[in-house]
Amino acid sequence: MRKDRIVIKIGGSLLFRKDHRINFQKIEEFCDIIKDQTNYKEPLLVVGGGIIAREYIGFVRNYSGNEALCDLLGIDISRVNAKLLISYLGELAYPLVPATFAELSLAMLSKNIIVMGGLQPGQSTTSVALEVAEFIKASKVLILTNVKGIYDKDPHTFPDAQLLKKITPAQLTDLIIKEASSTQASAGEYRIFDAVSLQILKRSKIEVNVGSGMDLSALKQFWKGNANTIGTIISN
Ligand code: UTP
Repeated sequence: MRKDRIVIKIGGSLLFRKDHRINFQKIEEFCDIIKDQTNYKEPLLVVGGGIIAREYIGFVRNYSGNEALCDLLGIDISRVNAKLLISYLGELAYPLVPATFAELSLAMLSKNIIVMGGLQPGQSTTSVALEVAEFIKASKVLILTNVKGIYDKDPHTFPDAQLLKKITPAQLTDLIIKEASSTQASAGEYRIFDAVSLQILKRSKIEVNVGSGMDLSALKQFWKGNANTIGTIISN
C-alpha cells in the first residue's frame, strides 16, 4: 500500500490548561491516536509555544524591546514543548528535536516519529509545519488549533462567525488581510497563518486541513481512515 507523509502541527494552546499547567490528558489523548498505524508514514509533529512562550516573550519584550530575541525565546519554548511529546511517545519518537533541515534529514533516517518546534525568527510554527512539509514532500498538513477550522471572521469575537468547509490560499490571504491588526507580526502574536505560511501555501501543492484540537474525535476518525479531511480544507 502506498504510504504518504503527513505533518501535524499541534498548537501550543492545546498543551496547557487555562491555569498554565501542562494538559496531561490532551497530550496523552493526541499521542495515543497518532501512535496507531494508519495510511500515512510516521507523522512529523510540529509543536507550538502556547501560553508559556507568550509569558517569556512578554517578559523579554518588556525589558529588552527586542522582537528577534522574543522570537528566539518562543522557539526555545516550542522545543521544550516538543520534548513533552517525545517523552510520552518513548521509543516511537526520535529522541532529539531537529533545529535545522540538516538535523531533520538525519532524523528522517530513523523512521521514528519526529517532533519539532520552531526554526527561525520572524514566523510561527505553522510556517515551520509548511516548510517541513515541502522539504519532506508531505501530501498533507493538519493544523490542530483551539477552533474548529477557518471562519469568515474571528469566532472568539463574533458569535455569528461561519465555519468554512473549503478555502483557496488566495481567499485565505484576503480574509487574513481583512482581519489583520497591528500586532499580527509581533513575537508570540502570529496568527494561525502568518505571512510566511501564506506564501508557502501559495507555492506548494500541499493540502492543509485546519481543525480542532480541543475535541480530537475528528482527528481520530481521520487517523482511522474513516474520513479524508478534518475541519477546513485549504487547497486550490
Ligand atoms: P507559535 O506562535 O507558532 O506557537 O510559536 P503557538 O502558541 O502554538 O501558536 P498558535 O497555537 O498557533 O496560536 C510561539 C512563538 O515562537 C516564535 C514566535 O514568536 C511565535 O509566536 N517562533 C516560532 C519563531 O520565531 N519562529 C519559528 O519558527 C517558530
